[in-house]
Amino acid sequence: MHHPQSRPLRATKSPALSGRVRVPGDKSISHRSLMFGGLAAGETRITGLLEGEDVLRTGEAMRAMGALIERRGGEWLVTGTGNGALLEPREPLDFGNAGTGVRLTMGLVGSYDMTTRFVGDASLSKRPMGRVLEPLKEMGLQVVSAEPGDRLPITLRGPRHAAPITYRVPMPSAQVKSAVLLAALNTPGVTTVIEPVPTRDHTEKMLAGFGAALEVETDAEGVRHIRIEGQPRLVGQTIAVPGDPSSAAFPLVAALIVPGSDLVIENMLMNPTRTGLVATLLEMGADITILERRNEGGEDVADLHVRSSDLKGVTVPAERAPSMIDEYPVLAVAAAFSEGETRMEGLEELRVKESDRLSAVANGLKINGVDCVEGEASLSVTGRPGGKGLGGGTVETHLDHRIAMSFLVMGLAAEKPVTIDDQAMIATSFPDFTGLMQGLGAQFG
Ligand code: S3P
Repeated sequence: MHHPQSRPLRATKSPALSGRVRVPGDKSISHRSLMFGGLAAGETRITGLLEGEDVLRTGEAMRAMGALIERRGGEWLVTGTGNGALLEPREPLDFGNAGTGVRLTMGLVGSYDMTTRFVGDASLSKRPMGRVLEPLKEMGLQVVSAEPGDRLPITLRGPRHAAPITYRVPMPSAQVKSAVLLAALNTPGVTTVIEPVPTRDHTEKMLAGFGAALEVETDAEGVRHIRIEGQPRLVGQTIAVPGDPSSAAFPLVAALIVPGSDLVIENMLMNPTRTGLVATLLEMGADITILERRNEGGEDVADLHVRSSDLKGVTVPAERAPSMIDEYPVLAVAAAFSEGETRMEGLEELRVKESDRLSAVANGLKINGVDCVEGEASLSVTGRPGGKGLGGGTVETHLDHRIAMSFLVMGLAAEKPVTIDDQAMIATSFPDFTGLMQGLGAQFG
């Protein structure tokens, strides 16, 4: 689909990439920093915040509910309302393209006796919200109106007194887990979330840091039981947001597939719920050295030294999917330059991301000459080391930033250029992507 205002971009075979880079702050932690800071009593100071459109929308939503948020120098200062004291927003909250923003905020307001309307762009308006509304309804939320299939625009009305629940999350989703935990903040008593498959744990770690009484127990089967005491006093914190591994994935894979490349990516978050891509690339034979592993503000971070490598296809097990869920598009690009077949399994959640990422990736690969097979919840890619014969296609990005960036990376190493139909959405998560990549030697235009 070509909109009149679309801005296509072309990536062409580039010389070796080299240099040192810092990618923008982690998107998951950035959303939560503004939300929890906007809720806590007193001041939260944030450095390294991702200033992408998605996160700025969350900031706007928190402002609309009473938080004071300002950028001063390189820092963001947030003065929160105090837990339990959010105000009813006067206007609909517009989350643009941001699934995390909208789903977590639905949880946050879901236990408030107020009416909130949620809207978003064409991509967000296609995504299922029922997964967060179901548990919130058990806590007392009313869905005043919604489009068919629990799609946006949606108007919610919270209960006078919310009820604590025990909820087993039916799909591996940190957003669903987080929505219930955030609703619990304004609910008396203990709310329990049972998580059979572990997903990113930023909500748990950060809420504990802001002062919530929260305990996590992992049973013999590896199932996590998260208990949170309702109505805690949350107090403002100082937060340094580490580099986003989901953004680092693009220069990382680019350096692996563009011959002769040698790159250092600094200050990347190494939380084990987020590093599945690095584990997979190492299995494929990637030359990645993890340097200066350190703990900053409760999270592991490291610098990654990466050099171009001859990659080999592997099977990526389904269990690894939650720790690299946003990285499959760019892994598929790495696979297109690898020897043999790479098989990725357990991909059902990719169908409900900013686009149907499984079909968007498969179509983008095919149109650029890559052999691949799209299954219901799997993808097999047969690579061509050196990228011979690859490229030449225009990829439909379907308002999906990660599809856009993944195929631009492909164009840097393919024999023929790769064009994307629209670069606009890149600003949601990685505003200076093209500038940063050009600084390393990437050729766009
Ligand atoms: C996120 C959770 C994941 C991920 C998204 C960010 C979060 O979504 O894809 O980009 O910050 O909680 P799901 O919860 O739908 O898996």
